[in-house]
Amino acid sequence: MGRVTLLISVVLLALVAGFQAMDRDRAVAQKADEQGSSDWVAEMEEIFIRSEDCKQCHDRHYEEWKGIREQTPDLKTFGRVDAALLHGTALESPVFRTVLGLWLQTSPTPEQRRKCLSCHVPAVTIYPQYVDKITSQVMSGKVEIEGIGCASCHLINAVEEKPAPPPTFKLNPGKVIYGPYAEPEDNLVHPSSQSELYRGVNYCVSCHFDKVKDVTRRDLPGEILRGTICQDCHMEPSTGSSTSRRGALTRPIGRHWFRGIVIPGIMLRNRNLQAEWVPRVDIEVETSPTVLRGKVVVRTGSLPHNFPGGDPVLKQFFLTVTAKDEHGLVVASARTHFGLPFDKLIRGPIPDPLIKGGTTTRVPFELSVSKDQPPVAIEALLTYALIPEPEPELRERYLATLATEKERQAAIEVIEEYTQERMLTFRTKELSLSER
Ligand code: HEC
Ligand code: HEC
Ligand code: HEC
Ligand code: HEC
Ligand code: HEC
Repeated sequence: MGRVTLLISVVLLALVAGFQAMDRDRAVAQKADEQGSSDWVAEMEEIFIRSEDCKQCHDRHYEEWKGIREQTPDLKTFGRVDAALLHGTALESPVFRTVLGLWLQTSPTPEQRRKCLSCHVPAVTIYPQYVDKITSQVMSGKVEIEGIGCASCHLINAVEEKPAPPPTFKLNPGKVIYGPYAEPEDNLVHPSSQSELYRGVNYCVSCHFDKVKDVTRRDLPGEILRGTICQDCHMEPSTGSSTSRRGALTRPIGRHWFRGIVIPGIMLRNRNLQAEWVPRVDIEVETSPTVLRGKVVVRTGSLPHNFPGGDPVLKQFFLTVTAKDEHGLVVASARTHFGLPFDKLIRGPIPDPLIKGGTTTRVPFELSVSKDQPPVAIEALLTYALIPEPEPELRERYLATLATEKERQAAIEVIEEYTQERMLTFRTKELSLSER
């Protein structure tokens, strides 16, 4: 059976057959299995060299990227479900599998499926013909290919120069490995070349497009973070050897764990950082005896950070405006939802999420009120969920593709955790006498 398991084939078949009849014909599955997957995997790995093959010389990078070395507290230990996915390990995660699986039930076209994977498996931008095979592997839970491996990041040598739909990175699929050094030492495995992107914000936001307003900029806007880039906080800078070779040069190096909390130092130096990070809501209101009308102003600092992560394409926001009377009783309430449902995801250009670095959005509202129960205060509450709520029918259809009760249970847990609505920020405004 080689490296391919029966399960892969079963799922592959199920995909082809429109996700029906999981166990119908194991004999056919077995036959498909014999054709093996190694050929296409080997072809991709000529360019996207496996990260294990970089390990012999860059073992520290490898271990950090894999999450093997870390001693700092993991955001997950603080109960953050969003902090589940490292660059190095994401593709095998049940979270990615479940969300992708739900979305596949909405019958995306091959091009849409490629686009879905473009940030998660950058190799699909070079090998679009293997999108279905990669998707089947993810859905089987037995993944051979890598998501964001060493090579997919270090083949990036350009980004779009003008604002363009995400992702905006460009890979150069050759032998040259790009990095931050002007004069890298030679080695027998790869030629190297410097690209100034590796010390630029535009590198990271080519995928993390929600973090800043202008993804083409090399630096972060604003006074507070001036001179600091994503890498300074997320790839803790130090000096040492960039390889495990004895006698290697001492150089500036960066940590490769890519997790949230890294250097308190930078945070402490920036006392105003908090203000820059928390999205804020303000209320502008006009009143009449029968209507409260106005706008909620949602302002996001230049880094939308004090804020859980989560996919910028899938994330959902809810803004609830409530008017209350002098006893604190709700007089009227209205809710606005931002974010696409599963069947609308990646069906056109990827829209910006409500919370995007450096942007301000004004959301209008209108509440009917009566003179008998006059409102004295108005409240705006901003909440979010990490993924859209799947329609019950969509959810059932996905669960039916899973082979065992255990898998279904795991998927249900992911769906429940990730659709849960969580508080982001709120604001209460007393209505002045003239406004009542
Ligand atoms: C998400 C993209 C990303 C991934 C994945 C990634 N790197 Fe890097 N790498 C970078 C960036 C950005 C820098 C520049 C860091 C700096 O100078 O601040 C860098 C720097 C380096 C350097 C130069 C020395 C140093 O530490 O700065 C080496 C060597 C390197 N990476 C190897 C690897 C290897 C090996 C892997 C896989 C185990 C890997 N990288 C995975 C983005 C990535
Ligand atoms: C045979 C050992 C060896 C292997 C295997 C190897 N490298 Fe390197 N790599 C080196 C050496 C030596 C340097 C130069 C380091 C220096 O100048 O400090 C280097 C430099 C780099 C740099 C910095 C280039 C620059 O200009 O900034 C990156 C990034 C890098 N390697 C990534 C990788 C990746 C990704 C892989 C796996 C696909 C890999 N390396 C495999 C030995 C190796
Ligand atoms: C090729 C697209 C891409 C690039 C380039 C990229 N990232 Fe990511 N990043 C992702 C994706 C996708 C995830 C989610 C995990 C996954 O699928 O690998 C992620 C996860 C993360 C996480 C963990 C988030 C969490 O909730 O725990 C951090 C932190 C992060 N990236 C920071 C960076 C920084 C800093 C850079 C630039 C040095 C960078 N990324 C470059 C796509 C990218
Ligand atoms: C001043 C330091 C600092 C800078 C600069 C910075 N980050 Fe962060 N980042 C953090 C800290 C601390 C956290 C964890 C705290 C949290 O999530 O609330 C975090 C969390 C994250 C996460 C996971 C949670 C989330 O909010 O999505 C991602 C992804 C991320 N950063 C990407 C980036 C990117 C991309 C940039 C550059 C555009 C960047 N960061 C710049 C310190 C920084
Ligand atoms: C433009 C790039 C991009 C595209 C396209 C994209 N993602 Fe993501 N995705 C990200 C980034 C960046 C993160 C990590 C963000 C963070 O943790 O702050 C992420 C995280 C995730 C997560 C982890 C969610 C969480 O809340 O921790 C899932 C699941 C996911 N993506 C699924 C998908 C699916 C399914 C599609 C296609 C329908 C898709 N993504 C398309 C960039 C992208």
